[in-house]
Amino acid sequence: MCYLIQDAENGTLLALKLGFSHLDSAPIYENEASVGKAISSSGVPRERLYVTTKYDGGDIEAELRKSLADLGLDYVDLYLHHHPKLSEGGDHAKAWKEFEKVQEKGLAKSIGVSNFGVADMEAIFASKPKILPAVNQIRLHPYNYAESKPLLDLCASHNIVIEAFRILYPLTRAPGGAVDVVIEKVAQRIGGTPAQVLFKWALARRVVVVTTSENEDRLVQYLNTFSLADLTSEEIDEIDAAGAKGSPPESNLGPVATEQVAAIAARLGIQRF
Ligand SMILES: NC(=O)c1ccc[n+]([C@@H]2O[C@H](COP(=O)([O-])OP(=O)(O)OC[C@H]3O[C@@H](n4cnc5c(N)ncnc54)[C@H](OP(=O)(O)O)[C@@H]3O)[C@@H](O)[C@H]2O)c1
Repeated sequence: MCYLIQDAENGTLLALKLGFSHLDSAPIYENEASVGKAISSSGVPRERLYVTTKYDGGDIEAELRKSLADLGLDYVDLYLHHHPKLSEGGDHAKAWKEFEKVQEKGLAKSIGVSNFGVADMEAIFASKPKILPAVNQIRLHPYNYAESKPLLDLCASHNIVIEAFRILYPLTRAPGGAVDVVIEKVAQRIGGTPAQVLFKWALARRVVVVTTSENEDRLVQYLNTFSLADLTSEEIDEIDAAGAKGSPPESNLGPVATEQVAAIAARLGIQRF
């Protein structure tokens, strides 16, 4: 469960109460302090949580220490390099060495990357790292699955876990495409919702889903996904084939980017995080 909003305290508390344990934050979302407040007031023991935060530029160890102070934690379970454009001078090997140091110091149990493409991953591998990225957190949904396949295969060949955001893209941002008809049909067969079918599609690919909602019914629905029947290989192929037909235009840009997020995205030369 993760929140691209500044005050995530209530949403995080609700998610923890319902049984979520994986929290994903980032300084660029300005939500670490509120996630930290929710953690401390929830009463959930630290060791039952899996807390991720991300590197958004600057000195890597100093930035992680700042994040830990905001979260009120001694360590994070996963520290992610948020975007390849944040490596100073484009030098991923140098940045990754700093990531290895923060893991060795115990500030992060695991380290990983986000939004890294094939060439970015190859640059890390070529540097003969002591520690491989544990995770690559990327945008993934049926409409970009085919183009993402080489990256998924490369990560799989190095045992790097894929975490996916934007899984709900066909529902939340680009409704009306070929995928909708298929996920609606599969939802009826398994007695679930189209969102649960998209989660099942991701789980069938051994992908960790990173999503967000402040709506209690949806949060419960997400947790219940695991008890639904798995998709058949024919259904997975049908979703892939529908995705390969191409996405309709994005009609909903999703949670409003804060001015800070928009400014940093502009500095990096990307549309938005
Ligand atoms: N690593 C990165 O670069 C990166 C980039 C983007 C996002 N992320 C992370 O991934 C998280 C998820 O982002 P996302 O882009 O994947 O969000 P998303 O799931 O596309 O959108 C979430 C929004 O959609 C609504 N929603 C949830 N379920 C829905 C459903 N079944 N039908 C209709 N609307 C629904 C939610 O509203 P309600 O609250 O009303 O349910 C929420 O505002 C973010 O919070 C962020 O932390 C990471």
